[in-house]
Amino acid sequence: MDKFRIIGGRPLEGRIQISGAKNSALPCMAAALLTSETVTLHNLPYARDIITMRRLLEDLGCHILMPELRTLKISGAQVEVFEAPYELVKTMRASVLALGPLLARFGEARVSLPGGCAIGQRPIDLHLAGFEKLGAAVEIEGGDVVARSKRLQGREIYFDKVSVTGTENLMMAAALADGVTVLTNAAREPEIVDLAELLNKMGARVEGAGRSTIRIEGVNKLGGAEHTIIPDRIETGTFAVAAAITGGDLELVNCNPQHIAAVLDKLEETGVRIDRPNAFSLRVVAADQTRCSDVTTLPHPGFPTDMQAQYMALMTVGDGVSVITETIFENRFMHASELLRMGARIRLNGRQAVVEGNKELSGARVQASDLRASASLVLAGLAARGETIVDRVYHIDRGYEKIEEKLRAVGANIERFRE
Ligand code: UD1
Repeated sequence: MDKFRIIGGRPLEGRIQISGAKNSALPCMAAALLTSETVTLHNLPYARDIITMRRLLEDLGCHILMPELRTLKISGAQVEVFEAPYELVKTMRASVLALGPLLARFGEARVSLPGGCAIGQRPIDLHLAGFEKLGAAVEIEGGDVVARSKRLQGREIYFDKVSVTGTENLMMAAALADGVTVLTNAAREPEIVDLAELLNKMGARVEGAGRSTIRIEGVNKLGGAEHTIIPDRIETGTFAVAAAITGGDLELVNCNPQHIAAVLDKLEETGVRIDRPNAFSLRVVAADQTRCSDVTTLPHPGFPTDMQAQYMALMTVGDGVSVITETIFENRFMHASELLRMGARIRLNGRQAVVEGNKELSGARVQASDLRASASLVLAGLAARGETIVDRVYHIDRGYEKIEEKLRAVGANIERFRE
């Protein structure tokens, strides 16, 4: 299994190119199942989850070409299997995004039910209740969700809880339904807007994406389209923290600062200097002494849960005390106990973590437990005195494109090795 060896203490300086957003690429790839024509996607990140989604689509019968790096041409003309097996779903929960498109186009879908994961229970009940509202019969058979329907019927659907992939799945299903679907209390993440843009290019009629009410007028058929995936806002935020935590100065290019306004505001509150020279780049200059500041994770446009672990790493070296409240996932503090091994002072109390700053971190052997937790351990390692070994970096490879190469190019001492 791959590991990272990091020798901390070097300020990072230079320029980093931000990759395409994994969480936008995955639903956009799934959307290709909605049509028999070719969907071409550009700016896909080179991350493991994208390869897994490609495999899933190919297993279903899609024909996929990669004419150039970061571009895929996906043709769903020959799809004849409507099933996503457990082997794939267990490695990537976003496989459930195949449900909506398969059900809408073929009237049939079987996708293994994802179990709990390292950060919480993560049910998909809202997706399933939504499909039922649209007229599908949904059952659980042998650990799989089996959904069947004649043509789906547009309806009003209210989400009890804001769900990103739930909104995406229903938006895709409703695009081919008969009549109008209105999604209320929908997620407002930039990835939802990106997917809606692709769907509209394919001939769908989606209005209001990015707001909490989305109206979708179903059409009989969707066609091919070409689309460029938005920049990854979580990768952007992660590298912004890398500058802040190492006393560095980084320019982040090909990003969209508007998509992470909450993170940038919070970093500014801690004393980090953020310049926004234009709409596609950022300069992040560390504070002489980072101040601690409380944060609460919320659905977009609030502070993203996917940045909570990285922010916690920064708070361990800040001045003062920070209370971090996680409201999205019930068990998303796995990184805290690993940070303790590096000398951090963190007390957990249910959904809150109290971080006492002012600690110089010291390198240690730590284990990654999930994607963003692993990013926070890498960040802590970059700031720590001495050597940090991060184990199980396959978690980080799921969502970050060559993170160690990008970090090395701006001065980090980090290498990948196998034991
Ligand atoms: C997506 C992101 C993930 C991010 C999360 C929250 C992708 C591929 N993944 O995950 O990186 O951390 O949004 O921003 O885009 N819930 C239910 N029932 C459901 C669905 C969700 O109770 O049917 C709950 C979840 O357990 C969680 C909350 O709602 O507590 C939000 O989850 P959701 O927004 O659905 O997260 P994902 O879409 O899985």
